[in-house]
Amino acid sequence: MMKHMQDTMTLHNGVNMPGLGLGVFKVEEGDTLVQAVKSAIAHGYRSIDTAAIYGNERSVGQAIREALQENQLAREDLFITSKVWNADLGYESTLAAYEASLEKLGLDYLDLYLIHWPVQGKYNEAWRALETLYHEGRVKAIGVSNFQIHHLEDLISKGQIKPMVNQVEFHPRLTQKELLRYTKEQGIQLEAWSPLMQGELLDNPTLVAIAAKYGKSVAQIILRWDLQHGVITIPKSVKEQRIIENAELFDFELSTDDMSQIDGLNQDLRVGPDPDNFDF
Ligand SMILES: NC(=O)c1ccc[n+]([C@@H]2O[C@H](COP(=O)([O-])OP(=O)(O)OC[C@H]3O[C@@H](n4cnc5c(N)ncnc54)[C@H](OP(=O)(O)O)[C@@H]3O)[C@@H](O)[C@H]2O)c1
Repeated sequence: MMKHMQDTMTLHNGVNMPGLGLGVFKVEEGDTLVQAVKSAIAHGYRSIDTAAIYGNERSVGQAIREALQENQLAREDLFITSKVWNADLGYESTLAAYEASLEKLGLDYLDLYLIHWPVQGKYNEAWRALETLYHEGRVKAIGVSNFQIHHLEDLISKGQIKPMVNQVEFHPRLTQKELLRYTKEQGIQLEAWSPLMQGELLDNPTLVAIAAKYGKSVAQIILRWDLQHGVITIPKSVKEQRIIENAELFDFELSTDDMSQIDGLNQDLRVGPDPDNFDF
């Protein structure tokens, strides 16, 4: 089990991905974002999750450059993820989107590049582009986001490379039991977005009671539950105290009973769009 905040989970191609990362959705370019990413790295985070559609890759890139220098780290010490947006799904357009993300981030490779949403009729061609980038050694790992089992089955049957990661909405109200079982069988790493349900779970009585028992915050209980399920987690915060809090997950372990109690909160409830019914 994970004992340290820089512990990793090994993807099926042998690449090690940190179990914990920082999410930066809905944070605009600018000083708040730069400070959040820098503070995360200074406090030991090694993984940052952005996307072209977040419109903040330039500030993420600036923060990475400053943090590498200030913390005497090398680029290879970090794990940087971005995602190709729906409008750019296609073979040539996805290749171009990758170059555009690299340029904005000021990086010469990404650790992980994801197809952001499974747009029907478009994601297979985009996947071919990701396979090309991977074969050419331009990216360390490739994956998808918001893919249901049937999307994964389709992608695997038509593609050459099985995705290394599937990043999906995952929290105690949406425990994704079948998808988690399927991805484990397939050797695909599941990664949780909106792990804190965007803040909506923090006063849940069951979680508050479990948190009190361990002397931890509800956020820490949820994030630890992710890791004990073997799911990578990327909580977002721009507040230094919370960035620190969200990484203090490695000095306790949830009992099997408490894991089951948290699993029992599932209501198949989403805060984000349904991957089988979205119109963007
Ligand atoms: N692939 C996709 O389609 C997709 C979709 C959504 C998100 N994501 C990724 O997943 C990341 C995380 O998801 P998310 O940003 O939607 O939501 P989240 O991480 O579940 O929740 C973030 C919210 O919780 C607050 N928060 C964070 N830590 C806290 C703590 N310890 N105590 C109390 N409040 C806390 C944050 O506020 P402050 O910032 O004010 O602290 C923010 O309002 C995103 O940033 C993004 O990188 C991916």
